[in-house]
Amino acid sequence: MKVEDDKINSILTHSKFLDYLKRIQQYESSREFCRHNLQHFLDTARIAYILVLEKKLSFNKELIYAAALLHDIGRWMQYEDGRAHDAASAVLAEEILIDCGYSKEEIIQITEAIKSHRTMEKDENSLNYILYYSDKKSRSCFDCKSIDRCNWPLEKKNSFIIY
Ligand SMILES: [Fe+2]
Ligand SMILES: [Fe+2]
Repeated sequence: MKVEDDKINSILTHSKFLDYLKRIQQYESSREFCRHNLQHFLDTARIAYILVLEKKLSFNKELIYAAALLHDIGRWMQYEDGRAHDAASAVLAEEILIDCGYSKEEIIQITEAIKSHRTMEKDENSLNYILYYSDKKSRSCFDCKSIDRCNWPLEKKNSFIIY
């Protein structure tokens, strides 16, 4: 295993990461719509990495996986008191990223992408856009029983597979 993969796995096994995942899971246990679980984080990471490879961008794997694994980690706070989960996730991510050995510059880049993951960035080669787009594309609307009750606008729903 390469050193860069160790950083990714240190997020995956971080006690706070696991605690936040569990909190989200508790809030979403009877959620009808898409959940914010490890599967979603991994789907987002893998699509983001495919995009980086396809577009021949220079973002490394540890940066991409960190952004994707942590982008919704503050979702439980949104359930708790209504605060926006993009901003909450960025705050919670910072502490985990420091513990996992990410540099100051990397942390700024990752938390910026997390903060803006619900807004479409114009620059399609930016980390912000890659995270936004892979987050959206990770959802299997084509296989969803609740598609008609979901409040995503029709044009955002994935009616076929791209990744
Ligand atoms: Fe999100
Ligand atoms: Fe997400």
